[in-house]
Amino acid sequence: MTLVLVEAAKNIKSAVGRYNTMITIYEKVDSILPDETVILKAGRILQEGGLVAFPTETVYGLGANGLDACACKKIYEAKGRPSDNPLILHISNIEQLNSIVNEITDSAKKVIEAFWPGPLTLVLPKAACVPYAATGGLETVAVRFPENVVACAIIQASGLPIAAPSANSSGKPSPTRASHVVFDLNEKIDMIVDGGPASVGIESTILDVTGDVPVLLRPGAITEEMLVSVLGSIEIDTAVNQRPDNKLIPKAPGMKYTHYSPKAEVILVYGEQEHVIKKINKLIAIALEKGRKVGVMASNQTKDCYFKAEVLVLGDKDKPEEIGANLFKILRKLDYIGLEVVYSEVFEETGEGAAIMNRLRKASGFHEIQA
Ligand code: TXA
Ligand code: MG
Repeated sequence: MTLVLVEAAKNIKSAVGRYNTMITIYEKVDSILPDETVILKAGRILQEGGLVAFPTETVYGLGANGLDACACKKIYEAKGRPSDNPLILHISNIEQLNSIVNEITDSAKKVIEAFWPGPLTLVLPKAACVPYAATGGLETVAVRFPENVVACAIIQASGLPIAAPSANSSGKPSPTRASHVVFDLNEKIDMIVDGGPASVGIESTILDVTGDVPVLLRPGAITEEMLVSVLGSIEIDTAVNQRPDNKLIPKAPGMKYTHYSPKAEVILVYGEQEHVIKKINKLIAIALEKGRKVGVMASNQTKDCYFKAEVLVLGDKDKPEEIGANLFKILRKLDYIGLEVVYSEVFEETGEGAAIMNRLRKASGFHEIQA
């Protein structure tokens, strides 16, 4: 009798397991001329309330119908994302913007003209049709018109504004390759469209254009300097480069969460290049004495200066766009190879360098030392 019950329980468990595990369709497309049947399939899944991960020029997004609260809730479940962290609605033409916001302010018009389509997200007052499930209960909505051909084709095929956070499990580095999405979300979403590596590699700049003075909420490839050149002046939200703090309420709710935390302890080393190299080599020796698996995040210029540690090359230190494109791939690699402690060089904070240092600080949990 007991045996019969055990067998019955096993059968129920495996049936439930089968039911919970979803089959994820994986399709690879050309990044310039994507296969139309794949695009139409992705569009149909989105119309039916499903989840589709797709490439954008910044990072891969996890898309759902941005006007359907149930579809948006599925995004939070698949990612394990806190429900007060709002989503960005992605559009593929300017007319769509009119239907999801209440007002397009003068500063919004200026930056749209200069930088859309592209890696810039704008926060504007939301229209009634946008559900609070997409905005985390806020009266504003974040909107982006991406440049990536595959992203635009999928949004166009769906005929909808597409809510899409980065397509990673909550807390992991944003995915810049379809393989990263497979690793985090396979069997949790309906479809993954692989359109090759994301060219920018860092999430979009977020600018709040609801008030008189635009406020930068998250730095990205549309840099502070570029925004100032079009808008005259902007403010930087105080939460941008501060350690997450319960007392501090950032205007972009997502900025309060610890992001991009590899399992390895990451430590940023500031100072003159030769001092940094010397200091890191000393720290490597100490870590090895303690039996720890140690790594270094370095540039092309310095990669051969470190000894007895795993060296991960971020790129040419004078080409922030190269460092940006490689950063999240390398942060993921730290865990794949099981490093325990990683020392990182730091980069010039002008232009896109500001976004790179913002993400590196978050990855390190603001663990910084001076050489
Ligand atoms: O590049 C990107 O922006 C990528 C791709 C897929 O487009 N998406 C992305 O989404 O990075 P996500 O969800 O990982 O980050 C969205 C950020 C969060 O920090 C969130 O708090 C902020 O945007 N956000 C969304 N709606 C907002 C709003 N109404 N007001 C202020 N911040 C908002
Ligand atoms: Mg994200």
